[in-house]
Amino acid sequence: MTRDLATDLLRHGYHAIPDARRRAGDPPACPVKLLGNDALVVSGPASVRRFYDPSLIRRTGAVPAPLAALLFGRGAVHGLDGAEHLHRKAHFLDLLDDADTTLHDLVRRHLRSALGERRGETVEMFTLLSEAYARAVLEWAGISVRNPDRVGRRLAAIVDGFGFSGSSYPTAWAARLWANRWARALIREARAARTPPSTPVEVIAAWRDPHDDLLPVPVAAVELLNVLRPAVAVAYLGTFAVQTLDDEPGLRPVLAEDPSRRHAFTQEVRRVFPFVPALAGIARQHADWDGEIVSPGQRVVLDVPGTNLDPGSWSAPYTFSAERFVGRDVDAFELVPQGGGDPAEGHRCPGEPSTIAMISATVEIFAGASWSVVERGSTYPRIPARERLQIRVG
Ligand code: HEM
Repeated sequence: MTRDLATDLLRHGYHAIPDARRRAGDPPACPVKLLGNDALVVSGPASVRRFYDPSLIRRTGAVPAPLAALLFGRGAVHGLDGAEHLHRKAHFLDLLDDADTTLHDLVRRHLRSALGERRGETVEMFTLLSEAYARAVLEWAGISVRNPDRVGRRLAAIVDGFGFSGSSYPTAWAARLWANRWARALIREARAARTPPSTPVEVIAAWRDPHDDLLPVPVAAVELLNVLRPAVAVAYLGTFAVQTLDDEPGLRPVLAEDPSRRHAFTQEVRRVFPFVPALAGIARQHADWDGEIVSPGQRVVLDVPGTNLDPGSWSAPYTFSAERFVGRDVDAFELVPQGGGDPAEGHRCPGEPSTIAMISATVEIFAGASWSVVERGSTYPRIPARERLQIRVG
């Protein structure tokens, strides 16, 4: 029986794509079976450029419905194409325009107070970060809740299920159903206020489609969650960042002091550590991808970690180098942990500056704080890889 990449992703997690490419002799474009159909796995900056060419690739229907509904929600920006996508995407970019500065300061403040309150205790890093990030993003969004930590844990649970592994998948669905109900109530409440929108939740509640109609409540709710949920999910990368401070304690003084070195360190964390395993698109037309011909309707899968570790782009790609990005410009097609190209023209993540700001703030706090590791472990190669980092707060 032919191997199917979908089954291999479930069974072997992040190993599935590199294994498929190795078995095929590491071609630049690797034919695979995906959900029973022919598909092509592509990697590297030239492929990223083609993957983000909307005349070659569409997104509608590319991510299988059960995964898209769980992770992004029904009607989300992720699955739109053409004018509708550009219109919705412009809303996100406007909303997030200066969110990075605010989120940076809020993450610092919430982490400082969490560490102050937990002095002498043993804490799980992922939980600590997802709670602090939830407090930060809810405050930025203008949402006040009695138990922000619980909201953070539920939003993190949605992301934890996207690899369909074990009990995390049904847990993720329970969290998604709860989150949809909660976010719809927030949208209805914001619309009922009838005041000019000022906070992000009010701004999202007032978003319109290209025909100038308000988005349906369930869609506006899904888009609100498409800001809150990934901001909490920055905890996956934040945990990798803190873990790297444990691996390289000599870096802590410079990272505590120097914002440009924190930025470079954060870029390297985003390059090296796995989170998004792949992105899926559907070919619109016949095209030659490095000698492999794709037909219209065929899935093209962008190998995200493979691009971030591409030996053609990076020297010693598998080595973590805190200095790699010092004084180095980043090309829009070579470093793609959150997608590639221009976020205003394609599907690249609009939350990238916020993500970088939140991780940098985390690095600043943990590089300067007193803590020691109690236990370390990892769920790798399970998707999404979650580091188990228990620390004692000093
Ligand atoms: C761990 C941090 C994050 C990672 C790894 C990440 C990754 C990604 C990736 C891979 C995409 C899809 C790119 C594509 O399909 O071409 C994406 C899209 C998106 N991200 Fe993020 N993201 C993160 C954080 C954020 C944050 C903090 C926000 C908002 C505050 C955000 C909001 C979005 C939205 C709305 C989209 C859909 C864009 C579109 O379809 O046009 N993300 N993200």
